Amino acid sequence: MNSSTVKALGAYCPHTKVDNSYFEGILDTSDTWIRERTGIESRYFAAENEYTGDMCVNAALDMQKNFNVDFSDVDFIIVASMTPDQTIPNVASQIQTRLGIRNTGAVDICCACSGFCYGLTMAKGLIAAGCCRKILVFGAEIMSRIIDFKDRNTCILFGDGAGCALVERSEENTVFECFSGTDGSMGKELYLSTRNRYVNGAEIIADGMVHQNGRAVYKWAVNTLSEGLRTLASINGITLDDVDCFLPHSANYRMLEAVFKGLGIPMDKCVDSVRRYGNTSAASIPLAWYEGLRTGRIRQGDTLMLLGFGAGFTYSGLCLRNTIDGSRIGQNV
Ligand code: UT7
Repeated sequence: MNSSTVKALGAYCPHTKVDNSYFEGILDTSDTWIRERTGIESRYFAAENEYTGDMCVNAALDMQKNFNVDFSDVDFIIVASMTPDQTIPNVASQIQTRLGIRNTGAVDICCACSGFCYGLTMAKGLIAAGCCRKILVFGAEIMSRIIDFKDRNTCILFGDGAGCALVERSEENTVFECFSGTDGSMGKELYLSTRNRYVNGAEIIADGMVHQNGRAVYKWAVNTLSEGLRTLASINGITLDDVDCFLPHSANYRMLEAVFKGLGIPMDKCVDSVRRYGNTSAASIPLAWYEGLRTGRIRQGDTLMLLGFGAGFTYSGLCLRNTIDGSRIGQNV
């Protein structure tokens, strides 16, 4: 079995910063409510003519600039997103041509906020099986295109952004045990559809907007995250105390506080992106990782635990050793 390592990371955040006060102007909400219930202080929205593929290319160029990466021999591209530019062609194919990569596979995967961890897991598997040697994994979303700005329960939560990781075959293995899971029976609690139909007996609203039963998702997410982190520790033969930094999906900072309190883990071991960028779905974990590297919070040699969870309901987690030197990252995000 071939070993793999995550060699480099890139990130992109769109330019328009949206503070909570923006929502006070269009909805019955307040900066205080949003901060108290979610910890979110701001998020960033893409420009009208900006698409997920554009943000991915920018994240890849950021990686190239900081880590001097050669994309010419990348042999697989995985894009995790629920907000692709269009149904076909997929975003991964657009990235292939825009980065000028000649011989590569290109696939989009859709598992909402778990997507980046699913992508890393698949990259590890493709390398282990000997199918590929150098894989780009993206997590990218333009959530601002799929939120209903009249729904105060959901629109205040989300933001736009993109991150990418370069996973390479290597002598030393630094991407350890991983696991993934699903509970499709909860599909109706968090969905987006453009077709009138029923999901598990429940009629869903087909308006192309994301609909979420916040309380149901919250309860499930707290259990899934708590149990998932314990599972990851167990399958990796370590304890939660052995982990230097946790990178859970950044959906809601208060939820993360509840989970970490329950597990007895100090909050300074949790690196989040939600307070600054909102819930950026598949981009939330790479944005947090990048931010952790940039600020020196995550160092080379650190043991990291990543766990994504979201619509489906799906979840996916993995444990790895960070080999990326954060001091190479500029101040461009
Ligand atoms: O990334 C995918 C996974 N997603 C998640 O993990 C999200 C999980 N859910 C959550 O993060 C939280 O459930 C929310 C942030 C969505 C909501 O927070 P909550 O503390 O669970 O609030 P709630 O839904 O229980 O609502 C409490 C009250 C309600 O009013 P009443 O019924 O008590 O009078 C809501 O109508 O807060 C009201 N409310 C708001 N008030 C001001 C809901 N949204 C807002 C708002 N501003 N934006």
